[in-house]
Amino acid sequence: MKKLILSPSIYSADYAWIGDEILRLQRAGADMIHIDVMDGVFVPNISVGPPFIKKLRRVTELPFDVHLMISQPEPLFEAFADAGADILTVHAECCPHLDRTLSRIRELGMAPSVALNPHTPVENLRWVINSVRMVLVMTVNPGFGGQVFIENMYDKIKAVKDMAEAVGSPAHIEVDGGINAENVAKVVRAGANVIVAGNAVFRAGDMKAELESYRAAALEVT
Ligand code: DX5
Ligand code: ZN
Repeated sequence: MKKLILSPSIYSADYAWIGDEILRLQRAGADMIHIDVMDGVFVPNISVGPPFIKKLRRVTELPFDVHLMISQPEPLFEAFADAGADILTVHAECCPHLDRTLSRIRELGMAPSVALNPHTPVENLRWVINSVRMVLVMTVNPGFGGQVFIENMYDKIKAVKDMAEAVGSPAHIEVDGGINAENVAKVVRAGANVIVAGNAVFRAGDMKAELESYRAAALEVT
């Protein structure tokens, strides 16, 4: 199995103290920082954009895993590159020219990644999965933190994993939404190796213990 990568989402952080919250994640052992960008159109919420992310770049050297939930991402790619995004995830549902969109992300020096909403068929990945660093399987409908994991997404994660193996794609498989200590082993068993968690991490009394429990659960699977 690929190494487990923990990418806690700052969407559930206290934005009044965001620098401290990121340092808290770093001390707790986060491997990346998952930053949710929402435009109020593709999803019914608005969050942060490139200028905000650029400020966060001063706080940590951890990779920024930027999840774009925006309906027209391309015009902002340069701004996200300039802000210091390392992985840039676009939603397949927003990109009629997905192959070109992913190439553009790579040209700008970021790692391209594609996200699928819960209902979006895995088949949409078939002709791009070889050229992406990561596939993000949404395990809730995007737009909010603290939602409940959609149970039939285990089969979907497995379907993505099977496709990646069948075509020889080295893509990481990230899961996002409703992940916690109870279900992390199951998503890893299904094939995920990049774990996003927001609510569960920020609500934990001991953030470090929470992240360690995810690593321990994943180790038991392997
Ligand atoms: C949801 C976001 C998630 C969210 C996850 O639209 O993409 O990254 O912050 O939060 P939890 O872990 O609370 O479901
Ligand atoms: Zn996200």
